[in-house]
Amino acid sequence: MAGKFTSSTQAIPSVGDVPRHIAIIMDGNGRWAKKRFLPRVAGHKRGVETVRAMVKACISRGVEYLTLFAFSSENWRRPAEEVSFLMKLFIGALQGEIGKLHANGVRLKVVGDLSAFEPRLVALIREGEAKTANNSRLTLTIAANYGGRWDILQAMNQLALAHPENAGCYGEADLAPHLAMAYAPEPDLFIRTGGEQRISNFLLWQLAYSEFHFTATLWPDFDATALDVAVASYRTRERRFGRTSEQVFAVSPAPTLVIPAVDEDA
Ligand code: IPE
Ligand code: IPE
Ligand code: MG
Repeated sequence: MAGKFTSSTQAIPSVGDVPRHIAIIMDGNGRWAKKRFLPRVAGHKRGVETVRAMVKACISRGVEYLTLFAFSSENWRRPAEEVSFLMKLFIGALQGEIGKLHANGVRLKVVGDLSAFEPRLVALIREGEAKTANNSRLTLTIAANYGGRWDILQAMNQLALAHPENAGCYGEADLAPHLAMAYAPEPDLFIRTGGEQRISNFLLWQLAYSEFHFTATLWPDFDATALDVAVASYRTRERRFGRTSEQVFAVSPAPTLVIPAVDEDA
């Protein structure tokens, strides 16, 4: 596939010990609060602290991309008060955190259909993205009003408008650059907290060959140790990308000395 990153279906991506990109469905805030006889929104508030801790943990572990599902395209179905609290929380977090993210070399990205958000929130998002655009220590992506189906469709529509003459012949390499997260490699590790084992319309395209880790730990209780458990599990996986185990072993033997080729005609 053309572009900066290897598509897992077009070529075999290189695999390291530390996942280069971790994508997380931060679930279980409501249940965390309910267990403590608190309103659901108290769980969301606490969840922001876990986000802070995860950014720190990912930086110190050398993870390059952290993607967090904050609000799905289906979360509008929740009670209006909860939705409006989440929006306020998002605004507050942006106002309070951008400076710190920037100081720590974090590049912020927000993906999703922002047209549904109030202009003040969109302006804050754009400001935060612009301010941190040149940072390279960690790319933190917040998926807000994001849906995997929305993403594939918006990419398809952009492509169809750009190249109507090729309709019927589009390939993966034509579509991929239009996806919302074209600036990042595909996630190596997908984590969902809160006990559910489903994708809930998160990164449908990009999770094609990601390793999945589900934990019952509720998001406000998730911490660096829990992250290390997920990464340890990831390290035990054999990422075959369609090949056999023997093939995987054959292409990744212990490091060997590279002997320069001899020019036979010399
Ligand atoms: C995840 O926690 C946060 C958002 C979806 C915004 P939930 O609010 O879904 O928590 P549970 O699943 O009800 O416990
Ligand atoms: C997924 O969690 C979305 C986010 C974490 C933002 P949900 O709590 O909305 O998912 P379902 O409804 O249980 O599938
Ligand atoms: Mg939930």
